[in-house]
Amino acid sequence: MPVKAPVEKAAKRAVVIAVGAGKGGTGKTTFSINLGVALAEMGRRTILMDADASMSNLSTYMGIEPHTLKTTLHEVLAGEAEPDKAVYKAFNDNLRVVPSGLSIEGFLKMDRSLLKDVIEYFSRDADFIVIDTPAGYNKELALSLAASDHLILVLNPDEGSMTDGLKVQEMARILDVNILGIVLNRYDMKNPFFSRSQVEAHFGSPVIAMLPEEPGVRRKDKVPSVLAAPSSRMAAEVYHVAELLAGQKAPSESTSFVSRLMLALFNTAAI
Ligand SMILES: Nc1ncnc2c1ncn2[C@@H]1O[C@H](COP(=O)(O)OP(=O)(O)OP(=O)(O)O)[C@@H](O)[C@H]1O
Ligand SMILES: [Mg+2]
Repeated sequence: MPVKAPVEKAAKRAVVIAVGAGKGGTGKTTFSINLGVALAEMGRRTILMDADASMSNLSTYMGIEPHTLKTTLHEVLAGEAEPDKAVYKAFNDNLRVVPSGLSIEGFLKMDRSLLKDVIEYFSRDADFIVIDTPAGYNKELALSLAASDHLILVLNPDEGSMTDGLKVQEMARILDVNILGIVLNRYDMKNPFFSRSQVEAHFGSPVIAMLPEEPGVRRKDKVPSVLAAPSSRMAAEVYHVAELLAGQKAPSESTSFVSRLMLALFNTAAI
């Protein structure tokens, strides 16, 4: 079997987290926004980047009006704008958002291969970068992972999510990205195919959050759950992941064996 050379990663200050799934609609964007806001609320300088360059909706979810987006990741990847021009503020002074554009023209002109360089550029001046990756098994996902330290899989307890998520986890492993864990979103959906322990056994990775089916997860005023409903289960679970990343929380007693093993191997306090 050929030995794969480890991927070289440039020295950087920010911890880069790719949020992925493979399958569409599992809640990647919703979770990315809430995690980014939670980290910012904890005082961490956080960049939330929309790497879903073809079907971007992160900024729309956050209530950023499309007409205010003069410069986006599209222009940066087209070599037409400095990365700093594609940065917008939202909800908290510690949070900066790098949206993708909505136009087909912008999508066509970008050079995806610059994505890794752009992520590395931003990582010089932030504590965390949270990358919302696209559905599918594609170049934006691979380039995002190649620049990331950790992958968080956002999965639903259904068969499609399990199959696609495994592919993304495998890609991350090939690219030498740590699998931080799985966020099991909508775990209480009707007739779930998999329980938490089945998911952990299937992936060999810990479930680090369980997000309930939450009809109010997207509000008309676009305020994310961690701010709009800070005492909700959703907010508590998202903060749990943020605290793991920030090294403020040890794994709980109830954490499964796989979780404890993974967390012991990966010392979060050292990030
Ligand atoms: N826990 C939840 N409870 C109820 N609805 C949810 C939950 N999480 C996400 N949703 C809804 O599911 C839909 C898909 O969520 P989202 O856009 O975050 O997924 P995604 O994985 O980013 O999708 P895509 O693959 O298209 O980028 C949205 O309408 C969102 O509001
Ligand atoms: Mg999305």
